[in-house]
Order: sequence, then structure tokens, then C-alpha cells
Amino acid sequence: MPDPKLRDIKACVFDAYGTLFDVFSVADGVRAAIGDDADRVTALWRQKQLEYTWLRSLMKAHADFWQVTREALDFSLSTVGNDDPALRDDLLDLYLSLDTYPEVTDVLAALRDNGIPRAILSNGAPPMLDAAVRSAGIANLLDEIFSVEDVSIYKPDDSVYQIAVDSLRCEPAQICFMSSNAWDVAGAAHFGFTVVWINRFGQVPERLPGKPVEELNSLETLPSILGLT
Ligand code: 2OP
Repeated sequence: MPDPKLRDIKACVFDAYGTLFDVFSVADGVRAAIGDDADRVTALWRQKQLEYTWLRSLMKAHADFWQVTREALDFSLSTVGNDDPALRDDLLDLYLSLDTYPEVTDVLAALRDNGIPRAILSNGAPPMLDAAVRSAGIANLLDEIFSVEDVSIYKPDDSVYQIAVDSLRCEPAQICFMSSNAWDVAGAAHFGFTVVWINRFGQVPERLPGKPVEELNSLETLPSILGLT
């Protein structure tokens, strides 16, 4: 039985990278460019990208997600002995046309058809989010794209989640927030969102404050747990 809070939500807000967009869809491009080290570089790229957001927030040294993503890739390529800036820039461009997970378009369309407002709330810088959304063909399925650039600090700082509350004019608990990133789930739930963890990678829960009300392995059954189908 889905948590009753899910019947009271006023908007659905989605994390972008890892939740709507498959960040590991860069793997084929990385493999074509660097061969055997591709899996290591792809995994390290994502890990470093996230670490740099947390560290820059603690250091109060914000730089946008495009720069952070470039620097994380730079570090990852350098780790396997590749310091070619032209190759790095080519691989970085893969972030502008990431695949969406297979169910994303249908789920966004189902929410739209049921009158539920839909937004992204992401670490991404606006130009990179716009490019990815356009390339995926989901622009007309989203009402808003909120970026941390409005507050110049990364998730899970409360001020990031507050952007959605202020813009959508609802209480935190009336926002149903979806993320595949367990640490983002914890941050958003601790802030007060009603959170559904899209546990795409079968991870165990983080030992952090803030718990989701529901755990799914993809977005597919979201409309049904919201009581829409
Ligand atoms: C995002 O904000 C954390 O990747 C994540 O889109």
C-alpha cells in the first residue's frame, strides 16, 4: 500500500543525472575513444563529479556543473595516463546528448495527462540541462527546469530544494521528488520533500538522515503509486 502522502502531492520534481538521464550512456563513446580503460574512466568520472560538488560546497568555492564535470573527466583521464585536452572536450560533449532511461518519456506524458506539474531540479548548469532535455525530446513534457546555479551551491544543501518550493508555491511535503542517487534521496527527504527513491542500481540505503516513502527500481510505476492509473 503506497504511503498516503503520495495521494496529496501537487507536483513531481525529478533529479536529472542518473534519474532521467543515463550518465553511463557515455560508456560507448569513452570506449571508442580510449579502449580498455573505458569502464574505469566512466565510473571514476561520475564518482569524481559528485565528490567535487560536495567538496566545492564545503569549500565555498562554487563552479558550475559543466566545469566540475570537465575537471572530473580531466582527473579520470589523467589517472589512466591520458592528458589530451582535445579528447577530453570531445568526451565532455557526450553529456549534452545523454540517453534517457527507457520509461522516462511515457511516465512524464502520463503525469502531464493527469495534470501533475513536472520539473527537473538538478546540479546541472542551465545550458547543459537544456541541451540534454532538447536532445532527449522531452522539453514539451516538462514545465520547469530548476538549476542549482540559482543558489550557487550543490545538493544536498537545503537552499537547492527550496528553489522548487518557492517556484512551485507548495509545501515541501506536497512535492514528490524522485532521485536514483541515494544521497540526494536522503537530502531531499531530510529537507521535507515526499521522496521516491528510484533505486536503479540495487543499492543499499545510505546511513544518513532522511528516508524515502517509497522505493522503486525504475520510474515505470510512479503514476500508479500516485493513484493516477
Ligand atoms: C543531479 O542533480 C545529482 O546528478 C544529480 O542531476
